[in-house]
Amino acid sequence: MLFDALLDEINGRLAEPGDVPRQERLYRLLKDAVLAGRLGPGARLPATRTVAARCQMARNCVAYAFEALVAEGFLVADRQGTRVAELPRAAALAGGEGLPGLSRRGAGLRGRSVQHTVLPFAPGVPDLNLFPWQAWSRCLQRAWGEVRARELNYAPPGGEPALRAAVAHFLAGWRGVRCTPDEGFILAGAQQALEACARLLADPGDRVWVEEPGYPVARATLQGAGLVLEGVPVDGDGICIQPADWHTRPPRLVCVTPAHQFPLGSVLSLERRLALMAGARAAGAWVIEDDYDCDFYHGAGRPLPALQGLVADGPVIYLGTFSKLMYPGLRLAYLVLPRSLAPDFGEALAGWQRAGQAVEQRALAQFMESGALLRHHRQMAPVYRARQEALRAALAAHFPGWSVRGGVAGLHLVLEGAASLDDRAWAQAIATRSVVARPLSVYGMEPLVSPRGLVLGYGVADARQIPALVARLAEARF
Ligand SMILES: Cc1ncc(COP(=O)(O)O)c(C=O)c1O
Repeated sequence: MLFDALLDEINGRLAEPGDVPRQERLYRLLKDAVLAGRLGPGARLPATRTVAARCQMARNCVAYAFEALVAEGFLVADRQGTRVAELPRAAALAGGEGLPGLSRRGAGLRGRSVQHTVLPFAPGVPDLNLFPWQAWSRCLQRAWGEVRARELNYAPPGGEPALRAAVAHFLAGWRGVRCTPDEGFILAGAQQALEACARLLADPGDRVWVEEPGYPVARATLQGAGLVLEGVPVDGDGICIQPADWHTRPPRLVCVTPAHQFPLGSVLSLERRLALMAGARAAGAWVIEDDYDCDFYHGAGRPLPALQGLVADGPVIYLGTFSKLMYPGLRLAYLVLPRSLAPDFGEALAGWQRAGQAVEQRALAQFMESGALLRHHRQMAPVYRARQEALRAALAAHFPGWSVRGGVAGLHLVLEGAASLDDRAWAQAIATRSVVARPLSVYGMEPLVSPRGLVLGYGVADARQIPALVARLAEARF
């Protein structure tokens, strides 16, 4: 009786159109019936011949379904035929209700991601159309040609030796970073590099100072590693640390963007650089120098060298990324560690995560050694400078009296408005006009008191179109 009703139902389901073979569907329907408790432990199944006749299937197709379920332990074949195995009640396994949800940490991350777009004014995105695809794909092809099968295993933890050497050479000349290949570590993007610092240099519950406003991805990463974030205000000279704070609330890590504070664009003054190093050394803290967009310098003269190069073996971890000079999807970044820490860090890194991307890393080493990266830089630097100038001019025309911050390096400017400005509503109105602008207030830990305005990336905005695009920002204001 029981099986009669079930067979009728199975018959109906098998008649429904679908790409899955009927024997496979019979197998799944029987399995579901067992899991849902409709075929209870010990229930006898009719002979395969009977099922085949009722379902108008070949007997060997039914046998296939039965045998598969016997092999998986749902059914048992004995002398009398086939019966359902003695299994714990499985009905509660089905359905999504009652399943645990995200952790508190996971839930806190929901709604934080920003839409990744290449529309004009998307902050931090380089012009991907001007990337030298052909030269890059030649390096990739060459790397694939040279790689041996065993090198497709997990990659060496600190990165491919050729890329470590190329990065050390590049950083010494470019940013005044003191680095040998052994002290430079390649990671899968700045976010992973930051996470490595958070996990290998600090313990859950340790305090980390972050710039306020600052980079939300860094905050989420540090928080995700269990660190306790404390925002430190930023002014025109960069992060503004009160000397007493080193004693009263000493941090384990301090995350800073000295070359071009993100997002406000201040450059950390020499006085504060020296005070930061001295304070960190005395407090036993590490400074993480995030040099995320120094590749494109637009100021007069030479860019200020990296904080890391200021003194030998200072308490500084230098972090750089290939996201701007190459492209964000490449996910390659580097950390430079003091000589005293590098071997231990390398060992801990190997114990924390397995590395990959050996082919991309080799290709990038080749891209750098061949001079293609520098050529790309030489081509892009004047393009971005012209875009920044066009953006400044258009902002001055449409927003007289507003303050425009940053721009000594990188790919974005900040248009700062009054404290009463509803920059989120403005950014939403802008988004309906095929332009994207980030509200400045989203970069603060306390959005209600953080500065208001727009963060405007000029990496993907054509200089000739910028005046019309800025006019759209002005139109969207209400
Ligand atoms: C402050 C800061 N750090 C780092 C990065 C780059 O990170 P990634 O290497 O993960 O692309 C960005 C990207 O815009 C950034 O704004």
